[in-house]
Amino acid sequence: MRLAGIVVIFCMIITAAALPSKNNNNDIAASTRRHLHDPRHQHHLRGESSSVRSQVVGNVTGHTQIFCHNETQPPIYFTSQPDNGGPGVYLLNADPVRHGAVNGTMYLFYENDHDFVPYLWTVVCFLNPLLLSSTKILLLPPNPPGGAVFVTPCPTFEGRIVRGDVSNFDGRKHLLGTWGELSWSTNGTAWGDVSLLEGNDGPVLVQALDAANKYKGFSIDVLSNAPAGAWAQKLGTGSWCLDKITSEGGNSVTRAWETQFLDPNSVYLEDNINPVINSINGRFAVTFYAGVV
Ligand SMILES: *[C@@H]1O[C@H](CO)[C@@H](O)[C@H](O)[C@H]1NC(C)=O
Ligand SMILES: *[C@@H]1O[C@H](CO)[C@@H](O)[C@H](O)[C@H]1NC(C)=O
Ligand SMILES: *[C@@H]1O[C@H](CO)[C@@H](O)[C@H](O)[C@H]1NC(C)=O
Ligand SMILES: *[C@@H]1O[C@H](CO)[C@@H](O)[C@H](O)[C@H]1NC(C)=O
Repeated sequence: MRLAGIVVIFCMIITAAALPSKNNNNDIAASTRRHLHDPRHQHHLRGESSSVRSQVVGNVTGHTQIFCHNETQPPIYFTSQPDNGGPGVYLLNADPVRHGAVNGTMYLFYENDHDFVPYLWTVVCFLNPLLLSSTKILLLPPNPPGGAVFVTPCPTFEGRIVRGDVSNFDGRKHLLGTWGELSWSTNGTAWGDVSLLEGNDGPVLVQALDAANKYKGFSIDVLSNAPAGAWAQKLGTGSWCLDKITSEGGNSVTRAWETQFLDPNSVYLEDNINPVINSINGRFAVTFYAGVV
């Protein structure tokens, strides 16, 4: 335990040195303000960003999302919080690659319909593979080991966790990629799923940490051998990953490729099959495997 704690702290120090600080945050605020008068800001993804919302609320039109964060404010950097058994999410990095200047991978939490500015962000170093198999996680509360962070978003959080980098702070939409979607109901139940509707930049597994031991998502690589027509380029980094497959404007080559390997009951591949699980204690683990930033 003591050793694990030291690894976490070391990982975070590197992060703080390598990544944005006050100056950058001012730039973020400035670029965000510019978007207040941008017509794109009025465009909401209600149809596209789908998923968890419809499960949680049932009556979408009667639902008013209570946002955690105002998009005029810079994203909030967090480090792992102690796990005292309450609601929250373990975010695990099972991607051995160091992406960009960070020792590990940067992750961002976006709220639904706040697509321009992330709510939370952090960097997680590579998880000790001994702590993880594709379906089982060994966690050591109260202090998560290196490669895992624990965080409790605000109680009304509805949104997604994605891979990213500093270009996610440019005030533009960065939708392309795999979404690990989570939301919390007012009664403490949390909901989770993995969606490929807006793209696939690598595997993500979402696991309920209540007694039922449910999980959704996938851990296999479907990018490596994908056909030429299945790819799309990320805004910002310019990296290539698999294209979006939304019902409107989705890439049919990508959809045909992914449905050969993945099950719509495990991961969002269609708008009308909802592979969503709940966790009655409000606790989830979300694992990101090797992917593209
Ligand atoms: C959905 O919620 C709205 C507002 O609360 C209500 O007027 C409407 O009747 C509800 N629709 C259904 C199908 O329950
Ligand atoms: C967000 O912050 C701006 C500037 O402080 C403020 O004008 C606006 O009302 C806030 N929006 C919400 C939804 O709180
Ligand atoms: C980077 O993270 C790994 C854990 O994945 C850790 O063992 C290593 O000490 C870290 N390196 C630096 C330079 O922080
Ligand atoms: C909590 O609320 C959700 C809807 O938001 C509902 O589906 C679920 O059954 C509720 N759980 C309990 C234990 O009441």
